[in-house]
Amino acid sequence: MTTVVKGGTLVTADRSYEADILIEGEKIAAIGADLKGDKVVDASGAYVIPGGIDPHTHLEMPFMGTTTAETFESGTAAAASGGTTMIVDFVLPGPDGSLVNALRDWHRKADGRICIDVGWHVAVTGWNETIWREMAEVVKLGVNTFKHFMAYKGALMVEDDEMYASFSRCAELGALPLVHAENGDIIAELQKKFMAQGKTGPEGHAHSRPPEVEGEATNRAIMIADAAGVPLYVVHVSCEEAHEAIRRARQKGMRVWGEPLVQHLTLDEGEYFDKDWDHAARRVMSPPFRDRKHQDSLWAGLAAGSLQVVATDHCAFTTAQKRMGLKGFPSIPNGTGGLEDRLAVLWTRGVETGRLTPEEFVAVTSTNIARILNIYPRKGALVPGADADIVVWDPKLKKTIRAADQLSIIDYNVFEGVEVTAQARHTISRGTVVWSHGQNTRPSAGHGIYIPRPAFPAASKALSVWKELNSPRFIHRDPQNIPSGV
Ligand code: URP
Ligand code: ZN
Ligand code: ZN
Ligand code: ZN
Repeated sequence: MTTVVKGGTLVTADRSYEADILIEGEKIAAIGADLKGDKVVDASGAYVIPGGIDPHTHLEMPFMGTTTAETFESGTAAAASGGTTMIVDFVLPGPDGSLVNALRDWHRKADGRICIDVGWHVAVTGWNETIWREMAEVVKLGVNTFKHFMAYKGALMVEDDEMYASFSRCAELGALPLVHAENGDIIAELQKKFMAQGKTGPEGHAHSRPPEVEGEATNRAIMIADAAGVPLYVVHVSCEEAHEAIRRARQKGMRVWGEPLVQHLTLDEGEYFDKDWDHAARRVMSPPFRDRKHQDSLWAGLAAGSLQVVATDHCAFTTAQKRMGLKGFPSIPNGTGGLEDRLAVLWTRGVETGRLTPEEFVAVTSTNIARILNIYPRKGALVPGADADIVVWDPKLKKTIRAADQLSIIDYNVFEGVEVTAQARHTISRGTVVWSHGQNTRPSAGHGIYIPRPAFPAASKALSVWKELNSPRFIHRDPQNIPSGV
């Protein structure tokens, strides 16, 4: 059984051109003119792009005394309907602290339920010999990224010595450290201060996490990574202060990548000043939405290449869960959704406004992250031999985003009322059409598979060799020639 995606304009990270795509089984078999197949997927008048990859999701994750309400099934169905064909979700160690057990647990939750493909990042939330040993096991199981939280003091936060130890271990293993860069100590102080002053509302969340808190931590993480001789990926970059640190590092030749979220690019801190408590609390996430001037910095970074990836950090709680923080903003579970809307919102606010070219849109929604995560060109590319993860992207399919219409099971949407000008007409995951617009079908649970990612020695090896060549030189001195002291 073969399928041809016919009559569209292919858009890749490096060029756009007219061609058909022939799919055989799960793979792209050929790209060219007038291809024939058993089945035809109509792409006339549309773009044909690599399936979106969202490298930052938290599905069914225990966090802040509750568990994210979006399930692997609902989250991946929502993703597929929005043109995303792979997510990379965060595995958090449970009370036993074991990375391997946590990984097993995430497979148990996802296997047989996911509609599109998944990969895992594993969080390092402390430091001991077991973690050091298990990191190697985890890499063998197909995880090449380890996440470090510099915030969430008393819970997930790691100290600098722990981060340095873990980053050094990443360098040995050919793995890439990721950081949530916010200074958890300062946040804890500001939270205490505002709560003591009786300032308990959701806007306190934003005030307790100003841009300096993120800029400081981003710079610190970059310097620690440089000291350890390892590249670094900074998740959810929300402000100029953090972007500046990344830009500076890249100009010095450090391998640092930055990931803004579609929420930070398009929503601002005014959301927290809404008189409606629920409205504000539903938008509580870390880092918080910022003053508009930061959005210009993030968009510029995507165009200039100092920021490389647009994700969502989809970490979705219901309104009832958000109300756990009615007595004080520090208890509002942190996180917002976006998985279903990432491509449409980014296209509308990015490509339609001229901030991004269609090719840059593809780069930041799939190709760049596929390369960073070492799954390129299996994912993130339209080339023969790649997985047939393909989206027929219709630039004339408008809609107004409404929670009532979404596949996500959350009872609201932070983009409620936003009008988007483009959507997925068809989403193809490994050769199967899993979603077609307007056909009232649901992506089927169980289609998705786990995509292991091999360790990638290249970048970290280059840095480690450089580090070795530039390591401090110690001098051998004849003890006889050393003065014996006073
Ligand atoms: O508020 C957020 N971002 N929640 C998800 C966990 C994290 O920090 O990434
Ligand atoms: Zn599995
Ligand atoms: Zn985070
Ligand atoms: Zn996150």
